[in-house]
Amino acid sequence: MKDLAIFGSPPAFREKIHVGRPNIGNRERLLSRINEILDRRWLTNNGIYVQEFEREIARLAGVRHCIAACNGTIALEIVIRALGLEGEVIVPSFTFVATAHALQWQEITPVFCDIDPKTFTLSPDRVEELVTPATTGIIGVHLWGRTCDVDALGEIAERKGLKLLFDAAHAFGCSRGGRMVGSFGNAEILSFHATKFLNAFEGGAVLTNDDALAAKVRLMKNFGFSGYDNVIHVGTNGKMSEVSAAMGLTGLESMDEFIAVNRRNYERYRLELASIPGIRLMPYPEEERSNYQYVVLEIDDERTEIGRDRLVEVLHAENVIARRYFHPGCHRMEPYRTRFPGAGKLLPVTERLAGRVMSLPTGTSIGGEEIQAICSILRTVVENGPEVRARLEASRAPR
Ligand SMILES: Cc1ncc(COP(=O)(O)O)c(C=O)c1O
Repeated sequence: MKDLAIFGSPPAFREKIHVGRPNIGNRERLLSRINEILDRRWLTNNGIYVQEFEREIARLAGVRHCIAACNGTIALEIVIRALGLEGEVIVPSFTFVATAHALQWQEITPVFCDIDPKTFTLSPDRVEELVTPATTGIIGVHLWGRTCDVDALGEIAERKGLKLLFDAAHAFGCSRGGRMVGSFGNAEILSFHATKFLNAFEGGAVLTNDDALAAKVRLMKNFGFSGYDNVIHVGTNGKMSEVSAAMGLTGLESMDEFIAVNRRNYERYRLELASIPGIRLMPYPEEERSNYQYVVLEIDDERTEIGRDRLVEVLHAENVIARRYFHPGCHRMEPYRTRFPGAGKLLPVTERLAGRVMSLPTGTSIGGEEIQAICSILRTVVENGPEVRARLEASRAPR
């Protein structure tokens, strides 16, 4: 058997390899932009780079308006408010907690809905069952860049008079039916957090084709200011800084390379993992554009004998910081766990997947050799399930 750290060998990697290590574009271009920012002394408040970044994102997403924000969560909070959502809003539980928190933060009840086991996105049939007189909207999440069934959700929203938003934090650069993510529903939001495919250190955006909504979001992200001294609306500080926009613009120049590297890594994983029983790699639809930013595995506990959590434990011991995204599901996190103790009963697919999935490192900071080593650890663990299991249990036993 290959040596494993849990059997006393040194870890496979000297330094930790994390999921979501940032993609960084051309350093010289970034530093020269930062110098220009300093020379201009225009550091924030709708600067030149923020304006350019908004134009570029709108162009690439094929949408009329892009309003940049300081992060994706604030972008989501602002557009939720600008759309006038209240009461209940239907969201998946199988997402990053920010999707639910953006509602709860403004006293709107997130109603957790189950997902389709193939696409990991909102199941339109389940959505329909959850609509009540208090429902004002639906927020779909294009999880890991896999898009929601936008047509079915659009039809329900239209028929029931609901607003439809998409959390596209993972899906910049992805398409559905050949149309780029960005212009579906009433609006979509993006995240440019450091871990995302395109990062601006921290950043986000609201994308929409609705002129009135765009104007309102713009006002709200800048304290409600309309010109100097004139506040015409309640607002917050959701502005993106110039340095963030410079990072985003620099990343955009390398976007094709990021996708090519991610895709190459993904194919390598596919090749290496194909022969390991009980491990299924999340597929990307071949006919669409994808950013390939997420390498997501579904682990069959019985077939691997060892199960997802033990696999993650062994990987961590080897300095591969795989993540159990999105475990355990928002409905099992506070304050939702206490508010909706029975929610899990309505979320069988979410519950099942939240116990089975994990994300592996990819991106421009790793290559074929690392991927081969990571997959070789997985293979060894699965091939020697009972032994690895016994070892992990022994290491936990009180001494
Ligand atoms: C699905 C999802 N929605 C929203 C967010 C929030 O974005 P941000 O971190 O930019 O606030 C994230 C990630 O961070 C996310 O993964």
